[in-house]
Amino acid sequence: MEKTIITSFFTTINKDIFLRYISSMTYRLPFLRTWKEISKLEQNILEYISPFNHKNKKIISFYNARSALYHSLKMFDIKYGDEVIVQAYTCISVVNAILQTWAIPVYVDIEEWSLNINPKLLERKITSKTKAIILQHTFWNPREIEEILKIAKQNNIYILEDCAHSIWAEYKWVKLGNFWDMAIFSFWRDKVISSVNWWFMIINNSKFFDKIPEIKKELKLAPINLVLKNLVYIKISFFAKLTYDFFSFWKVLMFVSRKLKIIPEVLFASEKACADKTFFYAYPNSLAYIWLKEFSKIDFYNEHRIKLANFYRENLSDFQWVENNSQNKNIYLRCTYFFKYSDELMAFMKANWVLLGDWYRQVIAPKNVNYEKALYKNWSCLVAEKLASMTVNLPNHIDITENEAKKVVDLIWKFYFEV
Ligand SMILES: Cc1ncc(COP(=O)(O)O)c(C=O)c1O
Repeated sequence: MEKTIITSFFTTINKDIFLRYISSMTYRLPFLRTWKEISKLEQNILEYISPFNHKNKKIISFYNARSALYHSLKMFDIKYGDEVIVQAYTCISVVNAILQTWAIPVYVDIEEWSLNINPKLLERKITSKTKAIILQHTFWNPREIEEILKIAKQNNIYILEDCAHSIWAEYKWVKLGNFWDMAIFSFWRDKVISSVNWWFMIINNSKFFDKIPEIKKELKLAPINLVLKNLVYIKISFFAKLTYDFFSFWKVLMFVSRKLKIIPEVLFASEKACADKTFFYAYPNSLAYIWLKEFSKIDFYNEHRIKLANFYRENLSDFQWVENNSQNKNIYLRCTYFFKYSDELMAFMKANWVLLGDWYRQVIAPKNVNYEKALYKNWSCLVAEKLASMTVNLPNHIDITENEAKKVVDLIWKFYFEV
């Protein structure tokens, strides 16, 4: 087998955006940290997500995830001692935002077929202190959400849709993010499209509109060094990609850049220990410029993912993956499968130059999160724990060709039936 590395290392910023980026005026923009274009961009996205009803909605942009999540919960007036329901098989940023409001995260197990919160178990966790449910559409996949809405209405609880994985996905032909009081979306570096960072919140319930100026006032301009780090990340990750096949040079490059602090951290150790304070920054303008360039390629990216997902599904039909609902539009942010002996499989693939993705191989991702501080009790969400231990993401990013996907499939079959 030829030694070309196939990696699940995921950044949507590819060669094309890099070339356009260096030839653009972005170099001159990092110092402009606010820009009237951002409001234009916000308007565009609102119209895209909600073409017929955008006038009745509002949007706020943030630099990072926890700011968006934290401020959404604050809008619900969540405070010390309140409870917020969240599914197990989630990300530490979600939990940290809850903890930062001084509320208690209450974990509910997931359904095996949808990877989303199990409504039957959810009902049992509701108490007089429950103020909100975070409804996460895991990987891309919305479940039958009417059931959860009914429970929330009956109990007078707010719903925050976490669409971090699922921008452009649809449930019953309606784009996600339109269903509940508020929704948050991500354009972080490993999401559907990327502007290195950027989160936004859509406010569907007019009851909260009055609170918007207060939040905007609280958001500071991102410091110049942070903006520059984001721009440098685009260059470094591009060169890292070019050196995938050159021993492990790309790993060294990313490692050294991180150590030298010239690119933004993925997650600080303090975040994994639930001991970090969120910084509340507005979205900087030079990243908005990148986003506009990437946005023009969104359909191309999604079609590529869908094509690869269909290929994997056809050729790995004996293995377990997330069930599809034919009424949904799935955009397959990750091609996640659940394999027995997943550690051994990953090692075997690595030995054959295929790096499988490890996103959500923990009940609270990523690795080394302090569960005690996150108030998660081991064995409390058994489906999530079982699936996390079996989770593997197959390479499906924009640089993966069909031939490479075929190589991945052949190796998986070889592992299970020959090794
Ligand atoms: C469901 C969910 N919400 C929020 C986040 C935090 O997002 P970000 O990676 O943009 O900080 C993640 C992380 O991937 C996530 O999986």
